[in-house]
Amino acid sequence: YSEEEKTEDYLFKIVLIGDSAVGKSNLLARFARDEFYPNSKSTIGVEFQTQKMNINGKEVKAQIWDTAGQERFRAVTSAYYRGAVGALLVYDISRRQTFDSVGKWLNELHTHSDMNVVTILIGNKTDLKDAREVSTDEGKDLAEAQGLFFMETSALDSSNVTAAFQTVVREIY
Ligand code: GTP
Ligand code: MG
Repeated sequence: YSEEEKTEDYLFKIVLIGDSAVGKSNLLARFARDEFYPNSKSTIGVEFQTQKMNINGKEVKAQIWDTAGQERFRAVTSAYYRGAVGALLVYDISRRQTFDSVGKWLNELHTHSDMNVVTILIGNKTDLKDAREVSTDEGKDLAEAQGLFFMETSALDSSNVTAAFQTVVREIY
């Protein structure tokens, strides 16, 4: 095999899902480029980023897909999920409504992709301590009940961002 073919074996498609403005695009920007946009606009259509990662000494590539949380800005749902082996389902710890939507996103994920897709539930924006509306335990409990991994992150201060993506990729790999 050529080098290229070898790395192809380890190209994993991962999708970001969750309500609008929970921070999906900023989690990806922080992870892939170490950037953060305080005033980012809603994603329109689909964007993706390929990121090399080192898992147990092996190089793997994660192709991370990002789309809009809002229905009207989204591309074809089935195409978005097709071939995904991992998912990050994101809510905003400072907006309970986004946590209440988790079930809806899980249904969509399970309708359009394999039941075995490795999924992590992410409570983002932990930097907004004073505005917290969803406790860590609530997040943990829901994740446990649904058989998901769980982590709280902040795209703003970087906490757990790399760890969240790595958890998914390590588990797929
Ligand atoms: P859609 O593309 O509409 O689905 O939204 P999204 O989930 O991609 O959200 P996006 O990353 O665009 O972030 C929405 C807003 O939240 C932006 O103003 C970000 O700056 C802000 N934001 C994202 N992550 C964090 C975070 O960890 N902490 C704080 N304080 N703000 C964040
Ligand atoms: Mg976005």
